[in-house]
Amino acid sequence: MKLSYGIVLAAQFLTVLALPSPNKGKSASSTTSSAAAAVTTTTPAAGAEEEEKANEVNLTGHFGVKVNIGGGNIKTDTLFPPGQNGALEVEIQDTQARVLTVTENKTPAAAPAGFTALESVSYVVAMEGGAANLTLQKIDYIRNANSTLDISKGVLGRLCTETKTFVVGAGVGETEFEADENELTTPVDNIVGEFAMFLPDAAAATGGAAAAEGATTGGSSATTAEVLAQLLGLLGVGTAGGN
Ligand SMILES: *[C@@H]1O[C@H](CO)[C@@H](O)[C@H](O)[C@H]1NC(C)=O
Ligand SMILES: *[C@@H]1O[C@H](CO)[C@@H](O)[C@H](O)[C@H]1NC(C)=O
Ligand SMILES: *[C@@H]1O[C@H](CO)[C@@H](O)[C@H](O)[C@H]1NC(C)=O
Repeated sequence: MKLSYGIVLAAQFLTVLALPSPNKGKSASSTTSSAAAAVTTTTPAAGAEEEEKANEVNLTGHFGVKVNIGGGNIKTDTLFPPGQNGALEVEIQDTQARVLTVTENKTPAAAPAGFTALESVSYVVAMEGGAANLTLQKIDYIRNANSTLDISKGVLGRLCTETKTFVVGAGVGETEFEADENELTTPVDNIVGEFAMFLPDAAAATGGAAAAEGATTGGSSATTAEVLAQLLGLLGVGTAGGN
């Protein structure tokens, strides 16, 4: 974060420096653009909503207890008992019948850096018959009716089995917030796995301000002149054109 902040600063300084000097203008004025979002998942088209209603079932699940998903391409939402802030709901649709079992992990891995878990537990999803070729598989999280917590920025994390850490922004689809239901909904490619809900920390959510703060609290409180000097060194004033 310090470095990228520095690069932006450098670009700004170099742009200013470049103005009176026609020789330098070209390379200094460009800034790097951030990489495009890595994961984009298209949500299925809404279709005729009324038909869907007739073709869906709502079930109540309990942790550690098998839930029969009937198949027949009927969308089946299974709502689990509420936690501290909200309740897990699993959406499955497929032609084949399956058996869903969700257990709570009461000692989950830590939240990723910059995030706080919405619950003290994570959810381990198992499926007899596997999760291959399911028509629809989604993990939802519905805020408790008595909660006022703003979960709108919440995201689904998936446990990476190799690193044993939760990963957000990869391995699952994009989490969407449905304000009317106070619900976070995330399509997944494979619902078999361990999942948890996370909220970005306030500091991480404020973007530029947090980055600026990080630049002063994270290292020494360098003056702008020092920063400039460092960056000119870093970029190598004599090296071949920036980017
Ligand atoms: C299932 O629950 C959802 C959300 O509460 C509701 O909108 C829908 O009408 C229910 N469907 C059935 C078939 O009861
Ligand atoms: C999933 O689809 C593939 C290709 O259509 C098929 O080969 C495979 O048998 C299917 N798996 C299951 C579990 O239905
Ligand atoms: C809020 O709702 C949840 C889920 O229904 C419940 O477990 C909890 O006790 C409630 N909290 C308060 C303060 O009423």
